[in-house]
Formats: sequence, C-alpha cells, structure tokens
Amino acid sequence: MDFEIIEWKDNTVIMLDQRLLPTEEKYLTLNTYQEVAEAIKNLTIRGAPAIGVAAAMGMALGALHSTAVDYNTFKTEMRSVSSYLYKQRPTAVNLRWGLERMERLIDAGKGLSVPQLKTELINEAKKIREEDIQTNRLIGLYGHAVLDDGDTVLTHCNAGALATAGFGTAIGVVYAAIEAHKKIEVFADETRPILQGARLSAWELKKNNVPVTLITDNMAATIMRQGFINKVIVGADRIAANGDTANKIGTYSVAINARYHNIPFYVAAPFSTIDLRIKHGDQIPIEERDHSEVAVINGKRLCPEGINIRNPAFDVTPAALISGILTEKGILKPPFETAISAHHAESALSS
Ligand code: MRU
Repeated sequence: MDFEIIEWKDNTVIMLDQRLLPTEEKYLTLNTYQEVAEAIKNLTIRGAPAIGVAAAMGMALGALHSTAVDYNTFKTEMRSVSSYLYKQRPTAVNLRWGLERMERLIDAGKGLSVPQLKTELINEAKKIREEDIQTNRLIGLYGHAVLDDGDTVLTHCNAGALATAGFGTAIGVVYAAIEAHKKIEVFADETRPILQGARLSAWELKKNNVPVTLITDNMAATIMRQGFINKVIVGADRIAANGDTANKIGTYSVAINARYHNIPFYVAAPFSTIDLRIKHGDQIPIEERDHSEVAVINGKRLCPEGINIRNPAFDVTPAALISGILTEKGILKPPFETAISAHHAESALSS
C-alpha cells in the first residue's frame, strides 16, 4: 500500500489526516499526548484497531515528555495520561486494550529507571503497531476462506487499512482473497453521517485497484434483492462475550437486510476487540456524537434549526444475525459464546 496510517518517527507520531480524504492526502506530526487525544476525538484517526495503536503511541509521547524522576511519580503521571486518552471515545474497546497493555508494562517495570521505562513504552507502542498489521494479515489469511472466486462483498463504514495500522480487517479479508487470486468486487455503503464508506473505503479500494461500487445506505436492501451481493463483511468496535457486535451505525440494518435475503453476514475483527467483561450487546457503551454531524454537510445546514436530532455513532448487531467472526486465530462459528470462551481458555493456557 502506498500510504501509511500511523507511525512513530523521531519521537513524534505521524498520522494521515483522515478528515481530509478523499481529496487531500496530508500527514500530521503530533508531539504531545493531548494532540493524539484530540486526533482520536476529532476522527483524524479512527477505526477500532487504529485507535488502539494511537492510544498506545499517545502514552509513549506522555512518557517521553514526563519530567518525573522516580517510579511512583512516573506511574501516577502515566495513569492520568491513560485516563485522559481513554475518555476520548467510549465504544471501541481497542482504545482501552492499547492503554492497558502500556499500563501493564509500567506495572511490570517497577525495578527499572524512568529512562528505561520510557524506552520500553516507546518500543511497546511500536510493537503494538507492528502486531496489528500482522494480526490483520492473519485475519485475511483465515477469513478469505468464506469468499468464493467471483464474489461481490458489501461492506459498511471503513474497516480497511485506514481503520488499522495497515491492511485492515473486513477489507483486509478482501485484499487477502485477491492476493489468493480470487476475483472479488466490493460494494461500499456511503455510511452517513461521516461517510467513512464513501470517503475512506472507496478511496483505499480504488488506490489498491479493487473494483468498488458506491451506494447510499438506503440502497443496500434493493441491491441485495437484485442479487448483486454474495457476502457481507464488516468490522467491529466491540464484541461482547456472546458475540453481539457493536459497529458503525447502520450495521444492524445491513445485517437484518442480509438475513432477509439469505446472504451470509460476517464480522472481521482481532481478538483485542472482544470484550469478555461485557456479557451482551446492551452493555456496550454507545458514543453519541455532536448533532452537527447529522445537521450540517460541508458547512451547509440540511434541516431546520431547533429540531431534535440523534447521532449515535454505533449500533449493536445481535449475534443471531452473524454467520461467523473472522479472527487472527481462525473463523469463530455460532454459538459464539462457546467459540469465544474456548479460544480464550486456549490463549490463557499457552501464555
Ligand atoms: O467512527 P469510526 O470511523 O471510528 O467507526 C469505525 C467503525 O465502525 C469500524 O467499522 C470499526 O472500528 C472496525 S475498524 C477495523
């Protein structure tokens, strides 16, 4: 791919400003954890795995600029950096996952000097980025088994390279299938209100020479009825222990439409997106974003002032509508509760 999403370079964080796509490809240089927090909040970087990497790099910046000289002061300072980053977006569990991984390193490093800890945290953030790319490659490798040569895949939002450190989850499965010489086309839902499908999925698919057709969200049922779609693959922001999946608002409608038209509906996500502390989807916190995202496009107001507006950024697709969860450890099949806990037990044994 001839673009990067997020990198650690010369003690700064470089990230592609996704708010400007598809018209401008511009990289920002961030020097402080507060700037990284703002970038997460304002969607400069977005997508669950990418947010996890950004949070870890934010922690690394916080560590780098800490003036603490002893372990306890450093640890207290890093706790407050972590909770500041954590506050930025509530739904994608990868944010918490990335921060907790950095915090565990601090806990384990009690015997180290502050400069040593700083080096370890920076290295860990870089490692989280590298691992994310490898994880996505594995999701693709296992996941593309669900795609047949000649399939057309519908996806919602952007769960591609742009939503991760690289390669992507849902769209990564498409890239992996194409690498395996399958002929695959993609239909991208535009994904109102922020248009991640139109601006981001269509951009990266075109850049990677994957045939892509853009539709507005309300066209999906008709396109399915007309027989254009063979499979649906979406990403996830948080998967509960029973398989209920939070993803971009509108995913639930796509899943209902897919079930009605007998089209398999898959979720592609790393294990870090599975939250075992949450039993079912109703417990997943859903971010409500600024109402201007619904009411205004490109500075132009679409609706009268003074009306009620809702803007939940995510919805929850019940596990019963999901045909399989494509992960870096293989494809999980229903009943997901059993499949997830079996894999979790296996990981606990091997770690
Ligand atoms: O609000 P966003 O753009 O961060 O929402 C992103 C999504 O909903 C993605 O589908 C999800 O994070 C999976 S990304 C691999």
